[in-house]
Amino acid sequence: MSDDLHLVGLCGSLRKASLNRALLAAAAELLPGGVTLEVVEIGDFPLYNEDVERAAYPPAVSRVRAQIAAADALLIATPEYNYGIPGVLKNAIDWISRPQKDAPWRGKALAIAGASQGSLGAVRGVYQMRQIAVSQDMHVLNRPEIMVSAAHTRFDDQGRLTDETTRKYLREMLVALVEHALQLRRS
Ligand code: FNR
Repeated sequence: MSDDLHLVGLCGSLRKASLNRALLAAAAELLPGGVTLEVVEIGDFPLYNEDVERAAYPPAVSRVRAQIAAADALLIATPEYNYGIPGVLKNAIDWISRPQKDAPWRGKALAIAGASQGSLGAVRGVYQMRQIAVSQDMHVLNRPEIMVSAAHTRFDDQGRLTDETTRKYLREMLVALVEHALQLRRS
């Protein structure tokens, strides 16, 4: 069913013990057969500046653009910072979106998940990310939606996702993302 699909994961948090990073690690465990997931690093991107883009395109951005170009679909896991996506993620998106004519994720399937220690599961960050994805002409998976509330209670000390309900929804999201990517490949 999966037909050897490759996914790229992006995390909206740079901290080592990030719950969103742990969510991506759980996704890597729960992938359907034949599907791979590579989490790419955006922490070494410079701050976006159009002068820098014109003078010398940063190697870190070229690396991630190539990783995304080689992927069939994407999975973004992000916290919500002050009711929106974190600046590091927006910075990475602004870089990856340039040059505008060939953004590497154009036309690809994207699933968005969020984890927050609060009660709303990063919903405002996830929905802002969904809006940004429209500008990039990505095909966002509508359902299932994964917004992990009280996320610190759903992982163990090693960062393993222990909450069975969240594992079930995450597995379902991955199956739906793969199906979405395959439909796009066929169309
Ligand atoms: C937060 N946090 C937060 N949580 C939330 O539900 N709504 C919010 O608006 C914010 N705002 C916010 C701003 C800033 C600057 C920080 C540092 C944190 C809490 C945040 O969701 C929580 O720390 C998550 O655990 C962060 O994600 P990672 O790093 O665990 O992936």
